[in-house]
Amino acid sequence: MNLDKPAVDPSLFPLDPNVTFLNHGSFGSCPLAVLEHQQEIRNRIERQPVHFYQRELEPLLDEARASLAAFVGCPSEGLVYVTNATEGINTVLHSLEFNPGDELLVSNHEYNACRNAIHFAAERNGANVKTIQIPFPIESEQEVVDAVMREVTSNTRLLLIDHVTSQTGMILPIRRIIDQLADRSIDTLVDGAHAPGMLPLNIDSLGATYYTGNCHKWICAPKAAAFLYTRSDKRDSIRPLTISHGANSPRTDRTRFLLEFGWKGTRDQSAALTLPYCIEYMDSLISGGWSAIMEYNRKLALAGRAAIQQELWIEPPCPDEMIGSLASIPLPDSKLEEPYHSLRYLDYWQKPLIEKHHIEVPVITWPSHPKRVVRISAQVYNSLSQYKKLGKVLKKLKESEE
Ligand SMILES: Cc1ncc(COP(=O)(O)O)c(C=O)c1O
Repeated sequence: MNLDKPAVDPSLFPLDPNVTFLNHGSFGSCPLAVLEHQQEIRNRIERQPVHFYQRELEPLLDEARASLAAFVGCPSEGLVYVTNATEGINTVLHSLEFNPGDELLVSNHEYNACRNAIHFAAERNGANVKTIQIPFPIESEQEVVDAVMREVTSNTRLLLIDHVTSQTGMILPIRRIIDQLADRSIDTLVDGAHAPGMLPLNIDSLGATYYTGNCHKWICAPKAAAFLYTRSDKRDSIRPLTISHGANSPRTDRTRFLLEFGWKGTRDQSAALTLPYCIEYMDSLISGGWSAIMEYNRKLALAGRAAIQQELWIEPPCPDEMIGSLASIPLPDSKLEEPYHSLRYLDYWQKPLIEKHHIEVPVITWPSHPKRVVRISAQVYNSLSQYKKLGKVLKKLKESEE
């Protein structure tokens, strides 16, 4: 596999050719053809809006759900659309009831927004949140399983766990964790914001109680395409954040779960409706389809990580098997006395990175000031020379502070 040139012509994406874009993980770019398809859907809506919303939308959403369900490996009757993974997490947490003394587990790697959501849910019910300390750098997946199981008690009700961590870019061994928690009747809510399109998924066989994932990251769908899967035994208790007509619909031709999530008020659902096209389009871009995309991105993330480590003289912070298409590398400590706060950048190194070197890549405080990491993303429009360039710039920044 040749990593020296992009797997796919970058001009198929509307990316700025003057920017070295290594942050697909935060907000990925959507191919021009998919955006054109979305525009056609929007034109179709506006041509006959009433006809579209009243008669066409539901069957089209069903079709799109079926295509996504086949892609992520779950029954389509358990999968509904949400706008993003944050909404998926909030939907589940808002639907559940806890008792004082119940313990909810979350890891120190959890994305801040979702951590806030679990604290909010716990406070509302008088439950407690316990934080699992997963080390980074880390030597093996077993350390993750051990860290989770150490915090489990007879009061544990729910684990919120990333499939792929946000700041540290690691694939967590969630199947092993879900199995061990299921033996103790503890529910799992998987934050799969990054997993669809990055990893081969079979959500059904994972056995998680709830799984939310974004399509607007690694599937490259337009923004605001995401899903929530709920296991069959829990579907009656999960309600959307917006209660609408489905709550008292007399219809008996579909479940209350599908009725409620199928209509959450008038909204633009065109992003979700592009999914059948988007999944097929991406598959057709490269010989070998989706599995070749995943393989290219993973190999590129590993090679990119190695190129940066070489410049910075750093050992790999996690084993290769925990890498998908994201990878984080520890950086020298921040030289600032106080944590950095700015609207535009996550760290003071980002200013020269973007303004002088035109490299878009997140430098993230992790786990707390002054420690930090740089997180690279690898997508089909990237190639190895871009990470080598980043490595050289990081080395210069490091040397300028020595
Ligand atoms: C692990 C994780 N969870 C949730 C999210 C939130 O995604 P969204 O903004 O699409 O809700 C992100 C975003 O990067 C993430 O990395």
